[in-house]
Amino acid sequence: MIHRLIVEGARRRTSMGMAGERWLSAAAAKGRPLILNLTDVHSYFRLEGKIALITGGASGLGKASAQEFIQEGAQAVIIADINSKLGHEAAQELGPKAQFVHCDVAAEDSVAAAVDAAVARHGRLDVMLNSAGVVGPLSAGTSEMASLDLAAFDAVLSVNVRGTLAGIKHATRAMTSAGAGGGGSILCMASISGILGGLGTYPYSVSKFAIAGIVKAAAAELCRHGVRVNCISPYAVPTPMVVNQFSAMMQGAADEAQVAAIIRGLGELKGATCEAVDVARAAVYLASDDAKYVSGHNLVVDGGFTSYKRMNMPFPTGPQE
Ligand SMILES: NC(=O)c1ccc[n+]([C@@H]2O[C@H](COP(=O)([O-])OP(=O)(O)OC[C@H]3O[C@@H](n4cnc5c(N)ncnc54)[C@H](O)[C@@H]3O)[C@@H](O)[C@H]2O)c1
Repeated sequence: MIHRLIVEGARRRTSMGMAGERWLSAAAAKGRPLILNLTDVHSYFRLEGKIALITGGASGLGKASAQEFIQEGAQAVIIADINSKLGHEAAQELGPKAQFVHCDVAAEDSVAAAVDAAVARHGRLDVMLNSAGVVGPLSAGTSEMASLDLAAFDAVLSVNVRGTLAGIKHATRAMTSAGAGGGGSILCMASISGILGGLGTYPYSVSKFAIAGIVKAAAAELCRHGVRVNCISPYAVPTPMVVNQFSAMMQGAADEAQVAAIIRGLGELKGATCEAVDVARAAVYLASDDAKYVSGHNLVVDGGFTSYKRMNMPFPTGPQE
């Protein structure tokens, strides 16, 4: 038995990277390898056997989540993205458990087809992560109320809000249909721009406030079906979306690596930076049975940024003695 566990640990360390390391650490922490059995081994992988679909999974936070889902034992991760080139590349990079399907979340039929393809291929859908999103242009028409461009507003909302809603709708259809295993976890990417005003353009900020609201509204109904609905509000992570946005704001004054370093330096939490994997691990938690009683929640991954605001005191301040 010990031999089998060591072999299993070594196999997972080799093939699963971080998750294999975590499995070995957990086994060591338990300090009782003799009474570990293969059920323990399998249950340590928090998404063992799950079928997941990730919109926007070809890049950034969606792709990082796909990678973590696979490392945590997901049986299949369907990457549904409008960018076919990136989507195919991501699926190839992530290995045989990842599959790409073209999907434009702004078109409901396309979302429905992606969900149907996942169910046709794997028999069910356990996890839906709605990560597809856009920031839209940065201009007076998106950042000044008096000249707000409502067409630009609609364009962002059609992806971020309507697309997310379509994802929730069709995931619900799959998760609650006769023959579905019952239950499921639906996740959405909100943002700190949907917690505080002034962090994003009007279209982006409004779209992210809406997502946290949609999650609560949907959780109210879907709890009766055993389907949990939650969102994650990440801090700034230097994904292509954010690097491009900052580069545009800086008008070429810094190259990509410099922009990424600037974004990493924006945080408040000493000794840590917000990385895509931090958001991906939050997604793993909410997708897993570890969060089996968590629904309607907005999991903020911001190192405390939106939790406080200091007064501009005209003298030095510190914590009360
Ligand atoms: N990176 C951050 O700092 C940050 C912070 C808070 C929230 N978010 C949110 O996280 C999500 C992912 O953003 P990211 O930073 O990974 O950006 P990203 O640009 O790296 O990835 C977004 C992905 O969505 C895809 N996409 C865009 N429009 C689509 C559509 N109509 N249909 C299907 N796919 C589409 C893109 O092709 C891309 O692969 C977004 O909803 C974003 O608003 C990001």
